[in-house]
Amino acid sequence: MRKVIVTGGAGYIGSHTVVELARAGFTPVVVDDLRNSHRSALKGMSELIGSVPSFHSVDCLDLERLHEVFKLEGEVHGVIHFAAYKAVGESVAEPLKYYENNLGSLVNVLQVMQWRGVGALVFSSSCTVYGQPARMPVDEGAPDHTASSPYGYTKVVGERMVRDAVRANHTLRSVLLRYFNPIGAHPEGHIGELPIGAPGNLVPFLTQTAVGLRKQLVIHGSDYDTPDGTCVRDYLHVVDVARAHVMALDWMDQQAAPLVETFNLGAGEGRSVKEVVELFEEVSGVTVPKVYGPRRAGDVSAIWADSSKSRRVLGWRCEHDLRSALRDAWNWQLALQATMARK
Ligand code: UD1
Repeated sequence: MRKVIVTGGAGYIGSHTVVELARAGFTPVVVDDLRNSHRSALKGMSELIGSVPSFHSVDCLDLERLHEVFKLEGEVHGVIHFAAYKAVGESVAEPLKYYENNLGSLVNVLQVMQWRGVGALVFSSSCTVYGQPARMPVDEGAPDHTASSPYGYTKVVGERMVRDAVRANHTLRSVLLRYFNPIGAHPEGHIGELPIGAPGNLVPFLTQTAVGLRKQLVIHGSDYDTPDGTCVRDYLHVVDVARAHVMALDWMDQQAAPLVETFNLGAGEGRSVKEVVELFEEVSGVTVPKVYGPRRAGDVSAIWADSSKSRRVLGWRCEHDLRSALRDAWNWQLALQATMARK
């Protein structure tokens, strides 16, 4: 029984990862103070895995309580650290909130892992660390990482903190996973994205607009140097992202410490905002009200992944395509609407 503490385990990528862990035979333990997630995610996960995961409502900034969780749980095999803020635009407006939460919680996680002798960490990073790369697709060796937002910079510094911790603590192994744009929801239902307030990300805004919760989608910028003028991103299914965490833990178990390795997680295809909106309209059968607005602060124009290292080393590849990710996001939104209508 390999017990894995999942900080932010009630969140979007966290909840999907908890399900994959449980299905792969790990024992996931959710640590989440629910500030940006919902208790209902625990119910959804339980329905998918057939048992209720251990849950601690703890803020990772609270070092003492975090340490208590590790003590209570006994032998912990590894940690997956998701707990962090993630909205690019908000981070430009409120940078200190991002530095305090994203970096402070990582310091505490690394500290407690060291105290308790826990030797495996998967850190939730982002392609945002590349800023606007000079060459595409971007691979893990791309030079000069200059993130374009405070959110992105917390990931640059977070990765550096993990590297330094591994250098100082020779029993530690870590994998840094750089996600491109995770979207969608669990194909079997029960869990998906549950944004609090107006969503900052494209796909939840799109699905909420399609059901009438939002008046219109604003497409941020139409004058980028891309084929149709809108930004280009690499969208991948959240379940594929979740699976990579299980593979990373399995892979680390076969490696000697100290170790720190970085992997891109992307589908390897750049899709424009306009393309995504049009494909969503086709999948859902709904025409979404939309307008073009100005560029969004902190956005890069185009980025997509070279994920060949993940394929070669971890044996990971995307099993879901963009169409099925958009279909699952749409089904999830419809299920939420149906639940709300019953209340
Ligand atoms: C960024 C990171 C990604 C991270 C995510 C976390 C980059 C390149 N990517 O994603 O790794 O996981 O933050 O939040 O930094 N858009 C609209 N209208 C909207 C919302 C979004 O046009 O209402 C556009 C954005 O301008 C962007 C695209 O849709 O061009 C995707 O945006 P979003 O879903 O917010 O993700 P990123 O900012 O690309």
